[in-house]
This record gives sequence, C-alpha cells and structure tokens, in this order.
Amino acid sequence: MTTDIEQPIPNWVPGPILGIETSCDETAASVLSTDGAVLSNIISSQHAVHRRFGGVVPELASRAHIESIETVSTEALQQAGITWTELTGISVTQGPGLAGALLVGVNYAKALAYALRIPMIGVSHLEGHIASAWLQDPTFPLPCIVLIVSGGHTHLYQKNLNGPCRLLGSTRDDAAGEAFDKGAQMLGLEYPGGQAIDHLAQQGRRDAIVFPRSYLEKGSLDFSFSGLKTALLYTLQAIPQQSRATQAADLAASYQEAIVSVLVDKVFAAVRESGAHALAVVGGVSANSRLRTMLQQRADSENLRLSLPPLAYCTDNAAMIAAAGRTALRAGTRASLDLDAHASLTSSLSYATSVPR
Ligand code: KG4
Ligand code: ZN
Repeated sequence: MTTDIEQPIPNWVPGPILGIETSCDETAASVLSTDGAVLSNIISSQHAVHRRFGGVVPELASRAHIESIETVSTEALQQAGITWTELTGISVTQGPGLAGALLVGVNYAKALAYALRIPMIGVSHLEGHIASAWLQDPTFPLPCIVLIVSGGHTHLYQKNLNGPCRLLGSTRDDAAGEAFDKGAQMLGLEYPGGQAIDHLAQQGRRDAIVFPRSYLEKGSLDFSFSGLKTALLYTLQAIPQQSRATQAADLAASYQEAIVSVLVDKVFAAVRESGAHALAVVGGVSANSRLRTMLQQRADSENLRLSLPPLAYCTDNAAMIAAAGRTALRAGTRASLDLDAHASLTSSLSYATSVPR
C-alpha cells in the first residue's frame, strides 16, 4: 500500500517561494516573487530572551522559535499579499546552527510542503549568506571574492560562474562576530555585542590603543582573533576600574579597528591574488559601519565592484535562505520529506571544495 507520504515529490513550478530561517536566535520568514524579488522579510529577534545570559541559550532559542514560527510565516505571506496555496516552493535552513533551533524550521517546512504538496529544499546557512549578495542586484558579476563574516564564521571564498565555491581561507580560532561579542562582554556592553561596539566606537579614537593584528604566515588568507581578545583583556586589567568607563569608547574604536583592518587587508589580498573584479562581504559583521566605510573606500580606489547587502540582509534573515533555495529548485534539486537538520553542516550542495594552499 502506498501512503501519502511516499507520493513522488512534485516538480517545481516557478512561482512564489517561502524561506524559513531558525538556525540561531532569529525566527525569520520571507516570500520571494516568481522572478526572485523580495516581497516580504519578517524577522522576530530573540535578543530580549537571551540578553540577561550574555549569549544564546539553545533550549530557550528552540522554545522561542516554536512560539513564533507560525506568526512570522503568516505575516510574511500577508505582507507579500499571497495566500498559502499560491506558494510553489519552500526553502529552509538545514544547518549549520543549533540542533533544536534548526529542527523547528525544518519540521515546520516539511509539514507545510506535505500539506501544500509543493517541493521543499534544505540549504546551508552559509549558502544563504552568500546568496544575500545577489538579492538586490541579481546581475552582480562573477567570478567574485566572497567574505562571510558572522557570529560563527569567517570564511573567504572564490565564487565562479560555474562549479563549487573555493574556500580560500577561514578563521583558525574565533569568528569575527565572536571577537566582537566577546570583546563587548569584556567592555560591559549589552548582547549582541557587535552592534554595541559599532555604536560606542563612533565616539572613540581608532588609534588610541594599538591592538595586535594577526596576519599569520606570509600569504595566508586565514584569520585569527583569539590573540586580540586576550590583548583586550590585559589592556582592561591594566586600567583602574574607575577609569574604564571614560576610556570605553577609545577601547571599542581601537578594538574594532584591529578586527576590521585585518578583514579588509585579507579580502583585498584575495582579490589581488585571484584577479577577480568583484567582491561581496556578507553576514552579521558586514553590518559594521566602519567595515562598510573601509571596504567602500578601498573598492572605489581600486575600481572594484562591491556588494554590501542592505543591513536587513546582513544579519540572519530568511530572504537569503529563500534566494539560495530558489537557485537550487530552479536547478531541479529537491529534498525529500525525511530531510534532517545538521547542526555542523559546513557546506551543502556546491560549497564543498577547499583550495590547498
Ligand atoms: O549572520 P549573523 O546574524 O548570525 C550568524 O550567522 O552568526 O551574525 C551575527 C553576528 C554577531 O556576532 C553580531 O555581534 C555581529 O554579527 N554583528 C555585528 C554588527 N551587527 C551584528 N558586528 C559588528 N558590527 C555590527 N554592526
Ligand atoms: Zn548567519
């Protein structure tokens, strides 16, 4: 006997797609139109839930996703002006991320795909961040150097017209976002720390304290931020408690400068080495105002095309997940209803090749 669940997965009929993202502390849903335009991009942030713990508490994240996924998805459809039956596909983050959090999105997507009898695809969160660079301008050129800078990743890729992305370098310890978050915690700033450092740094002097910048071996496109974090700790220990508040803005500006200048130098070294004429910088840290200014100035002076997604597409969102899924659906890829979440998924589909250096 054939059960309903064993029915063949339908082919994708071009039309609106729902993207779902629940990998960490944002419950997000977005609808893309038939031609890939973002019709809605709804994000419910859990920052208030996790703030008093100074970081994301996985169990609380899963519960908050369960509470808001239905509301967020319904709102995404309403804002897009479409009904459930008009959806022709679903794209969901499969990993990497928190296992319990991912499962909420994956199971919700499976239930929808089954009920609506439409195809579904699971995509890598990293692939989503990469896709965000093309959301506003689908004609942005390839080949292109792509830097993903987020709370969990600092990955440098070369993306070509065809074939898998090549991994050129990555962090050997902390991700850039982690360096921001841990630095902010040491400075007594609120979670999430990246944005807090960015704001405070605007009132500080970038050259007030010279923090170490780790470039690793000559020619390396890898990153390392753990030494910088330790340097901030020692610097703080040397400042009397009562003077720390007056120096906080200088500390934030100098610490931020050390992170950002290494990112910019490495990314432009990758551009030079590859001969690419385009650069995309994506992920939560790409929202940093100092990083954006430095990248834009350097790109202008080197006559390089630069894609910096609007702030709403830098930090976690579902428009980027829908966009990555749309590409996969168009290419004929589908997930079956036994799709599972993968907490440590580093690459899916095309993002598997690393370059021996
Ligand atoms: O991409 P994302 O939302 O989530 C992950 O995939 O990790 O990135 C979150 C990271 C956090 O570490 C956060 O502190 C950082 O992005 N971030 C920033 C800024 N806004 C968010 N870092 C520096 N400056 C910002 N304005
Ligand atoms: Zn992310």
